[in-house]
Amino acid sequence: MPLLRPMRADDLDAVLAVQAQCYPPAMQEAGAVVLARLRAAPATTLVACDAAGVCGYLFAYPSVYGKVTPLGAPFDVAPVPDTLYLHDLAVAPRALGSGLARRLVRRMLAPGTAGALARAALVSVQDSRAFWEAMGFAADRDGPADPASRAALAGYPDGALYMTRLP
Ligand SMILES: CC(C)(COP(=O)(O)OP(=O)(O)OC[C@H]1O[C@@H](n2cnc3c(N)ncnc32)[C@H](O)[C@@H]1OP(=O)(O)O)[C@@H](O)C(=O)NCCC(=O)NCCS
Repeated sequence: MPLLRPMRADDLDAVLAVQAQCYPPAMQEAGAVVLARLRAAPATTLVACDAAGVCGYLFAYPSVYGKVTPLGAPFDVAPVPDTLYLHDLAVAPRALGSGLARRLVRRMLAPGTAGALARAALVSVQDSRAFWEAMGFAADRDGPADPASRAALAGYPDGALYMTRLP
């Protein structure tokens, strides 16, 4: 079973390799941005490692309810957060279907961890809505609040959905 641990800077190439396997070209985020995110919010990152190395990851950061991270933008860590924003969850094809994504999310949201905030939020992409619903998330009735976040959501591919979860 893959081991979970916080991400490190020397995981960058392996994380980008997993990203390349999981997303189409239009959704690839630049290495410099991924590294900056790790530096901005190291306590709310996880990687999963099997014998071949990193096979999954989860990026999150302390944010506020209603705010959406634009695709490709750095994390804007909130000084007074009320929401853990899950920006990117990906599992390499070799590790799919074994409950790894569920483990990563549960670990991140567990009480007493750095990521533990009352609410969690995310933008569901690539038909992942049902996965997130099974993890306790629901399509947010109001959607993102401010114009910048609405524009950020519109910058994702069709079908992107703002979802939130209360404890
Ligand atoms: C979505 C993703 C992370 C799931 O990874 P995974 O490790 O295969 O998921 P798990 O094995 O933990 O699956 C948990 C449950 O969710 C289901 N599930 C997995 N992916 C799903 C999806 N896209 N839609 C609906 N259900 C899904 C599984 O069948 C499983 O349910 P079960 O236990 O009843 O069989 C993976 O498909 C992935 O990396 N996709 C590409 C990146 C992506 O789109 N990420 C989502 C960003 S919002």
